[in-house]
Amino acid sequence: MSANTSAASQAIVFNLNGSPTSVTADPSSPLLFALRNDCQLNSPKYGCGMGECGACSVLIDGKTARSCSIPLKAVKGRTVTTLEGLATQGQMHPVQQAFVDAQGAQCGYCLNGMIITTTAWIEHLTERPSEADIRNALKANLCRCGTHLEILDAVRLAVANKFPATDTTTSANTTTTAQTSTRSLEEKTPWNRF
Ligand code: FES
Ligand code: FES
Repeated sequence: MSANTSAASQAIVFNLNGSPTSVTADPSSPLLFALRNDCQLNSPKYGCGMGECGACSVLIDGKTARSCSIPLKAVKGRTVTTLEGLATQGQMHPVQQAFVDAQGAQCGYCLNGMIITTTAWIEHLTERPSEADIRNALKANLCRCGTHLEILDAVRLAVANKFPATDTTTSANTTTTAQTSTRSLEEKTPWNRF
């Protein structure tokens, strides 16, 4: 039962991190508010509140979604996974572990979105992506600390762990070549400035 109830409140039932969950709140309120205030989950962050930065990202039925811009009623009967739900049996998800190993953070505020986005993207890869593919996957996520290099290292590590057959030399060469090819990405994205 939500503390944030009103005459317009409704019980919205969905699966959250593997458990049936009911939140009673204004069904038009942002999913982000329900997750943080009613479900006490701290990983989805309020950044822009306009669907622009990615800090609030969650997985809905396995696909990345921006919880600040999705009404609670939209997840009725669906599966929502937050960063808290990625670990299994006490083990961090490989993407989470890669961010730890690569120390891909500064303040960490954007990391929820970076990890959720990377997790959804890498899950469906069937072959090793190019450097340009990696940068393209992250281009809609903002980092205000300028930690792009370390975040890229973390994502490259997650990729290398999933596709271990490619050696480090190849990876480094790919990086150098692709730094030129990323010029084709939108110039406004910071991911092609490094
Ligand atoms: S807070 Fe949701 S995209 Fe920025
Ligand atoms: S590490 Fe601070 S916003 Fe990205």
